[in-house]
Amino acid sequence: MIVYLNGQYMPHENARVSVDDRGFLFADGIYEVARVYAGQIFEWEAHLARLTNGLRALQIEIADTAALENIADRLLNENKLRSGDATIYIQITRGAAPRAHAFPANVQPTIFVASKPFKQHPATYFTDGVGAITYADNRWARCDIKSVSLLPNVLANQAAHAADAFEAIFVKDGVAIEGSHSNLFAVVNGAITTYPSCNYILSGITRRIVLELGKTIGLPVREAPILIEEIFAGAELFLSGTTTEIMPVTTVDGRTIRDGKPGPVTKAMEKAFMELIERSAASRAA
Ligand code: PDD
Repeated sequence: MIVYLNGQYMPHENARVSVDDRGFLFADGIYEVARVYAGQIFEWEAHLARLTNGLRALQIEIADTAALENIADRLLNENKLRSGDATIYIQITRGAAPRAHAFPANVQPTIFVASKPFKQHPATYFTDGVGAITYADNRWARCDIKSVSLLPNVLANQAAHAADAFEAIFVKDGVAIEGSHSNLFAVVNGAITTYPSCNYILSGITRRIVLELGKTIGLPVREAPILIEEIFAGAELFLSGTTTEIMPVTTVDGRTIRDGKPGPVTKAMEKAFMELIERSAASRAA
């Protein structure tokens, strides 16, 4: 696979970043993951807007963020990903400089862009649902920044894997906040509910789409805390994310949720989401 690094296109195995890179030393950088359906980037503008906000929060200046779309398009072409499913990964760090906490002067940001085919999850994840575990939310108070500082997410997701579960749900004060790499939805009192967009979650692009699709499937949506007790009382649950799509959750901490099958709202949402993807890929191709 060909990747882009700091102005050059090169084979993935030739891409090298300095040991002084602040992404390596301090996790001083941000990233984005976008999906490509039928060779077309899904929700590019939303990913670029979130990336731009992240750069602003970190005070990293990039000459031309709009050029990232051309880079991504060139990688899709060079890597023969113009049909089928793929992902685009973008990472931008403050750049390489001798180690000191405060920002270095006159440093060039490191810009890395890669694309690769997307390996879809086993079909049973969608037909039968997946397991999740609960995990104490020990993250910082700027989860809205898509920072590469993902250690809490890594440890939480590893705990999920060790328990044969797909996702770890971060819990704070009895409230389910979001997953280690996805947002969480519960159907509570007939409303599609998810934690409010704020500094305690990554405001997912798929999450926003789910909220918009509520209208299509004719159900109210609500941004409100989901109580852990509501989950165990049998709320229908699903996850949303760029690589997760709409994924039913049928066990939590080994306990069966409802009847242990994906719920009707989740199925309707999955269908509406897939229809939206098809429409969007067709209009981007046109
Ligand atoms: N994860 N919450 C967290 C903590 C995430 O890392 C992600 C995405 C989401 C969902 O956001 P979106 O719908 O925009 O993908 C929510 C990416 C895909 C990852 O780290 O691989």
